[in-house]
Amino acid sequence: HVDGSLPTITDPETEKNLLEAAKVIRDTNNTVGFPTETVYGLGGSSLNDDSVLNIYKAKNRPSDNPLISHIASIDQLNRKIYGQSETSDVLQNIPKIYHSLIEKLWPGPLTVLLPVPEQSTLSKLTTADQPTFAVRIPSNPVARALIALSDTPIAAPSANQSTRPSPTLASHVYHDLKGRIPLILDGGACTVGVESTVVDGLVSPPLLLRPGGFTWEQIRSMGGEDWAKCKVENKRTVEEGEKVRTPGMKYRHYSPRAKVILFAPEDISSDLPERLDGVRKSINEHAKDSQRFAVLSTLIFPNNLITDPRVVYKSLGTTSIEIQTNLFASLREVDEMENVELIFVEGISEEGEGLAVMNRLRKAASNNVILF
Ligand code: TXA
Ligand code: MG
Repeated sequence: HVDGSLPTITDPETEKNLLEAAKVIRDTNNTVGFPTETVYGLGGSSLNDDSVLNIYKAKNRPSDNPLISHIASIDQLNRKIYGQSETSDVLQNIPKIYHSLIEKLWPGPLTVLLPVPEQSTLSKLTTADQPTFAVRIPSNPVARALIALSDTPIAAPSANQSTRPSPTLASHVYHDLKGRIPLILDGGACTVGVESTVVDGLVSPPLLLRPGGFTWEQIRSMGGEDWAKCKVENKRTVEEGEKVRTPGMKYRHYSPRAKVILFAPEDISSDLPERLDGVRKSINEHAKDSQRFAVLSTLIFPNNLITDPRVVYKSLGTTSIEIQTNLFASLREVDEMENVELIFVEGISEEGEGLAVMNRLRKAASNNVILF
């Protein structure tokens, strides 16, 4: 765990594949697709300019959007990023404000910002020249084994073609990046389904920069006193060229080919049949010239909401956790269907997992949001 103990690998085929991927990370400038508990990552050495360039290139990502470094243990962080082989206090490089959070939530979908050390081994391309770097210990055993076996901090964005929905299956990575990367480790479906929660404890009050796998409520309750005051970074959009604390926010994100229209629940006290009538009207209007369209439902839309031969209906799940887990795979699935030109999605309230789910959906919908 946080102290560096490794998952035991018992299957020889798995071990062989992990060693091959670890060799690519450690000894080459190439990249590897690999599973994490959140989404699949596209990994390369955080320490090596050419590896990081290859990540940006493979997924067509603008290089001013910095990457998260994935580590297997805090010991590895100290050795590989701070160049300290013997440390009496393993947490000495981590500001106190993070201690409670990482003791409770690492390994897991929590990313923290740390100041870039003066004698940093990190490639400047990993951090996109920011004064801080982002780091997390993933809990997925394949990810942990890969990082530990390569003994290299792995810079990894989500392994999708830039602007596409993040991949939660190895086949999604293959679909987006085939021919551009040498190897994908298939670890099955990602359980969390959205990216890690990114927090900044170096400002006061501390900020939630990106909602993700751990909820805002969990951060506030588990982080200790300082985090009880944690604010959510404003979702304002940013002008091209403007320096921002969350560089990711200025880019298009999570977009299927089809146009996405999001229905956001507003007045849950008003009459349900009336609200659904409004939704039906909007769908009919927007879809009047479409050959085929999809409706992704969550908690309220019934599966007979629309009786139209052109509709493809799919449920994202009946709890916010299920909805979060299925979100990206379902967007991809209906987007792949022939002639689907429009995807209507039923949003949920922004509590718990709802904050991350709605954050991704608003981006997927480029703010085409209809209240219901
Ligand atoms: O769950 C995840 O975090 C996945 C898996 C693969 O670990 N990775 C991921 O990476 O989502 P990516 O590159 O898609 O998102 C990284 C986010 C971006 O919003 C980026 O702007 C932000 O972290 N970020 C990275 N370094 C930062 C820094 N120094 N300051 C502020 N934001 C930073
Ligand atoms: Mg991404």
